[in-house]
Amino acid sequence: MSFKQFSTDQDVIDFVQTHTAVFNNSPDLTVTEIGDGNINFVYRVGDGNDSLIVKQALPYIRVIGEAWPLSQDRIRIEAKALKQSEAFCPGSVPEVYHYDAASCAIIMADIGQYRNLRQALTERQPLPGVAESLGVFLASSLFYSSDFYLSSSARKAMVQDFINPDLCQISEEVYFWDPFCDHERNNVNPPLAARAAAWWQDDELKQAVARLKMKFQSQAQVLLHGDLHTGSVFVDPAAENKVKVIDPEFAFVGPAGFDPGVLIANYLLNLAGQARAEGDPAERHAYQQSILSDLNDLWCSLSQHFHGLAAEHTLDPCLKGTAIVDAWLAELLTDSLGFAGVEMTRRTLGVAHVADVEQIEDAQARAEAQTMCLDIADLLIKHAPQFSGMPVITAAVSELSFCR
Ligand SMILES: Nc1ncnc2c1ncn2[C@@H]1O[C@H](COP(=O)(O)OP(=O)(O)OP(=O)(O)O)[C@@H](O)[C@H]1O
Ligand SMILES: [Mg+2]
Repeated sequence: MSFKQFSTDQDVIDFVQTHTAVFNNSPDLTVTEIGDGNINFVYRVGDGNDSLIVKQALPYIRVIGEAWPLSQDRIRIEAKALKQSEAFCPGSVPEVYHYDAASCAIIMADIGQYRNLRQALTERQPLPGVAESLGVFLASSLFYSSDFYLSSSARKAMVQDFINPDLCQISEEVYFWDPFCDHERNNVNPPLAARAAAWWQDDELKQAVARLKMKFQSQAQVLLHGDLHTGSVFVDPAAENKVKVIDPEFAFVGPAGFDPGVLIANYLLNLAGQARAEGDPAERHAYQQSILSDLNDLWCSLSQHFHGLAAEHTLDPCLKGTAIVDAWLAELLTDSLGFAGVEMTRRTLGVAHVADVEQIEDAQARAEAQTMCLDIADLLIKHAPQFSGMPVITAAVSELSFCR
């Protein structure tokens, strides 16, 4: 069957009524397009009591149009990755009710009662338990798709299932190419121009990034979400499942440090944004400290949970035992910090910035926050192997002038 874009509300309603029984053929359904993203169409369908979400992938990027074609296989990958996450870490993603290959669409649970983590951080909301839950989510995702758990044939099948060339190419360009040269796609705040020019000439930096880029391109280690920034995480500290992760269309089998790194970077981008954000300086400073303590909690939870899973499920005689797990987690931390530095760079100099910093209206003040982002990125990219644990890094960041 050939692909047909949903072009009316009735198309979306018919699709939902055909493939789910949620609304019991109710005649009073409403459809609202809620997508605030760039790539796909996202609709909420409701009858006043229940609601669900429909996400449809077109053969191109929504905000650009046919000028930027993009494989619709991304929506199959997203549906499959959501189901994998549900299996690895139950309750951590919206439940997938239906995936339809012909319509390139997913019907999934509405998590509208959760808040976007980026917004919550930007508004300095206290988030008890959220960092620990993210640690559990990461540990489960990493462990169940790693050599510590998978059989040889299951691992090969996973790699095959998640071959995602179009989306990987975007990542390779926007993370690892554009922000390390004077690329036309870059978005450099004018007061930051001299710092950007120096960044592009820094050979020590580029050598360290080269190591990370080659890992990203060729190390098929674990199943990654592939775009785990704080806009892809929804939170409700009062709920049993405190986090829900959405939008794994960039999923592929890649280096284990990439997802934790991107997430850590987005916490640190928020921390740098707080330095020049609106509001009481003491409150902003306290929130920066709470972000650093969240990062310590996240890593502690990730490590503990990973050790627990390995002790319970690893069978391979060479991969069993705490020493190999400790060594693996030490390398994970080094790689995660490096990838965090790359994510901070691309969110500062590259095409796609983050609201945590962009909300600072004054260009000079924003450049000061962006300078902090680059200072942290420089530290992480060049010195990641020297940090023996997350508390050492958070202490080093805390010592930087804008956190004192
Ligand atoms: N299951 C869901 N429940 C509630 N809201 C959702 C759900 N899925 C998506 N949304 C809303 O729609 C927005 C866009 O969704 P999503 O990020 O999946 O789209 P996208 O087009 O892939 O975006 P991007 O450009 O970031 O890749 C989310 O930020 C969120 O507000
Ligand atoms: Mg997306």
